[in-house]
Amino acid sequence: MKAYYHARAREYDDWWLGQNLYADKDRPGWDEERAQLERWIEELPPKRTLDVACGTGFMTRRLRGEVTGLDQSDAMLDVAREQVPEATFAQGDALDLPFDDGAFERLFSSYFYCHLEEDDRVCFVAEARRVAPELVIVGSRLQPGEEAARWVERVLTDGTRWQVFKRLFEPEALARELEGRVLHESHYFVMVASP
Ligand SMILES: C[S@@+](CC[C@H](N)C(=O)[O-])C[C@H]1O[C@@H](n2cnc3c(N)ncnc32)[C@H](O)[C@@H]1O
Repeated sequence: MKAYYHARAREYDDWWLGQNLYADKDRPGWDEERAQLERWIEELPPKRTLDVACGTGFMTRRLRGEVTGLDQSDAMLDVAREQVPEATFAQGDALDLPFDDGAFERLFSSYFYCHLEEDDRVCFVAEARRVAPELVIVGSRLQPGEEAARWVERVLTDGTRWQVFKRLFEPEALARELEGRVLHESHYFVMVASP
């Protein structure tokens, strides 16, 4: 996962924006729902927030309060620093967070939890609980007929092929897994807070 996202940094936002490689993706209503997701994030009460696996900062810029973004990829962080100059950024591993216990009021993470296999998922949740009392997770909503967890092949503009693990979530099931509650759900997205 690390190498794939590092290679994808400069074209990552195309996925959110439905352009270039993703221009022909069949996602009716995607732009409206992505804008709604951005509003959900803006509406979170301002807090000292750590955005783990912040990527290009596409969603980091919607968080209010004192915001720190962390990612393992310096290529992703270069883009994030350009897009969100008001936030602080750090390079590091989400499974071994370089912060003290209770350093933040909220840990936010968008489209990272969904890529974790079970051992890493457990490790990440423990790290999240260690550094912040509140956890907010964003991911894709499971659609009828889709597999909830699968390995998928992704192709980048340069033609390189990558295998990526991805989970899709039924909102209430994700809330139970995190011992939290569903904050928002739409056709494409789910946002869960814990506690
Ligand atoms: C799908 S992207 C999500 C980016 C951003 N949160 C968003 O919603 O647009 C996943 C991100 O996880 C980062 N990542 C992968 N493994 C990581 C790890 N162990 N520690 C920190 N970041 C990691 C990748 O570099 C990438 O930026």
